[in-house]
This record gives sequence, C-alpha cells and structure tokens, in this order.
Amino acid sequence: MTETTYAYLQPGLYARGWHIVLFSQELTVGEVKSLSYFEQELVIFRGESGAVAVLDAYCPHLGAHLASDGGRPHGDTIACPFHGWRFDGKGTCVEIPYAKRIPDKAVNALKSWPVIEKNGFIALWHDPEGNPPEDYLPDIAPWGPAGWGDWSFKRSRIRAQPCDVIENIVDVAHFAHVHGGEVRSFENRFGARTVTQLSTVQRSANAGMVMPENAPFDMQALQAEAVEDAADAWGDATYHGPSIMYYYTESRSEDLNFASWWVNYHTPVNSEEVDLCSAVIVASLTDEPLPDEFRQMYPLTAHLAFGQDVVIWRDKTYRENPILCDGDGPINKLRRWYDQFYQPLK
Ligand code: FES
Ligand SMILES: [Fe+2]
Repeated sequence: MTETTYAYLQPGLYARGWHIVLFSQELTVGEVKSLSYFEQELVIFRGESGAVAVLDAYCPHLGAHLASDGGRPHGDTIACPFHGWRFDGKGTCVEIPYAKRIPDKAVNALKSWPVIEKNGFIALWHDPEGNPPEDYLPDIAPWGPAGWGDWSFKRSRIRAQPCDVIENIVDVAHFAHVHGGEVRSFENRFGARTVTQLSTVQRSANAGMVMPENAPFDMQALQAEAVEDAADAWGDATYHGPSIMYYYTESRSEDLNFASWWVNYHTPVNSEEVDLCSAVIVASLTDEPLPDEFRQMYPLTAHLAFGQDVVIWRDKTYRENPILCDGDGPINKLRRWYDQFYQPLK
C-alpha cells in the first residue's frame, strides 16, 4: 500500500454504495446486457416476472460470457450459451441439462450483486467487504408516466476520477469560470451519507466559460439568451452516497418558468474511466406548457454542463494537499466525507 492521505486514492479501490448502471427503460423483459464496472465484467437481465438481476459475467463452468450471442434468458433464470448451465437471479445454479446432479461446488459459485430498481433507474450495490446494502436512495415523487414522464438521459464514458467528479458539489469558485454565471447564494450541508449544495445562480454576461466538446449547438448564444431573459436558477443538489446525485432546480424568467429533477451519476469503469450520465425530467411552473423545442434541448444542457467539467477533469492532476483560499468551498471537508465510502465499515 502506498501512503496516501485518503483511502480513495488507493489504486483499484472503488466506493461502497449504490451505483446506477441503467435506466429501467433500457432493459425490457427478457433482455440481457453486459456491463463493465469496477474493473469487472457483469451481466444484467430482466426476467419474466420483471425482476432485474446482476451476475458476474463469466460462467463458473468453463468461463463463457453469459451475455454472449445476446444471452439466453429463461423465465427468471439465465442459461449459459456454451453448455446451458442455468442460473437464477441470485447466481444459484439451478439446472445442468446434461448432468444427473449439480456439483456442490457449482451451486453458489456465481456471484450475484444486490440490485435496486426505483425512480426509473437500476442501481447495484458495490462493496468489496460484502456488507448488506443500505437503504438511502429517496423516491423522486414526480418521476413516472403519471407525473413528469420518463428520463431523458445522456451517458458518456469519459476519462475522469470519481474524486474529481464529486468535488464539484462544494467547488463554488469554479461556477463562473467553467459554467458561466454569477453565484448569488451558495451553501453546503453534510449528512451521514449525503452532501448537499443549495445555490442560486444568475446568468452573467461577462463570465468566462469552458466549452464542452462536440456541443450540438452554440453554448455562447444560449448563454447570451439566458442573460437577456435574466433567468436565474435556484437548486438543491444532493449526493446520496458516493456517486448518485439528485438535483432539483427551479428557474424563473419573464418567458420561461420551470422546475426539473435531474439524476446525475458517475459509475467507475476502471481506474481511468467513469460512465457519466445526466437524466432529466422537467415541468412548467405555470399553466403555460413548455415549448417543445425547450423540452428537447433542456436535457442536453444538463449533459453539456458536465461536458464543461469533463474538459477540465480529463487533463488535471490531483492535489492531495491543495492550497486553498477564503473564497473556496469546503473541499477538505468534502474529501473527509467522501473517504468514508472507501474505509472499512465501522
Ligand atoms: S461455460 Fe457455461 S455452461 Fe459451460
Ligand atoms: Fe461543474
């Protein structure tokens, strides 16, 4: 072990907690997909009953990948495409079609991962120590067909460190420089498994901005428009655990008054990359329906805002002992809070 201030800097360690892997709409009944997270290969499938299961990808028999050739779902079990061994959602080997008896060793040889499906997303519980999952992911009441609809989301595999992504939540000083805008109010609150940012941001004409790559429209023009509308946004962004952030925001201007919920997450793929995703539902705060154009564009702006950070994350190094000034947010406090997810559970 190298000496580091924080456990999260140990190579190969990934945070204990819930990590989103898919949205519910991405996995229909009978569908099997492969996933690569935490330097491991996994398969996810939705059985006939609608239940979702995540298993290690490689068959304990002779090592075939359970999602090869599209996978072989049967009811609530999955069969290996190589010799047909069959596993249930807990990874238990329930049938070997050509054997009289299932070898004792095979019964529990395949690891299953705790899974939760709520708010239209599917998350798995990662814990190298094997502690039982914790119940800390709140409901998002307006999500769903009877509410504000289903998520519009965009996911990218990017080069970034989870510790850099999470630091955004307290980094008040980067707003103007990276995202453009004037921070009118800013406060962080820390809970046992949560960290919250309450902020009001006013669009500002003279702010500098980092340009996200491959933006499908002109961010400068968008900014200018927002400044003209004098739109300001109030928001509550809260991380629930190490990688899932819920963000509720209200934005008011002469032309447009809306509220939105975002789910932003980063799930580590390996020591170099994370899957970064932002998902949005949005509703009008008045009787006026939101223009279609806005409904289509708004979810993209969420992802583009992250795209601005991505440009910085990709090239930065990590300062374990940063030199901070009085205008910075509580960066060291955040780091101590974040480290809990890498420390053995007390
Ligand atoms: S490798 Fe999976 S059944 Fe043989
Ligand atoms: Fe940011």
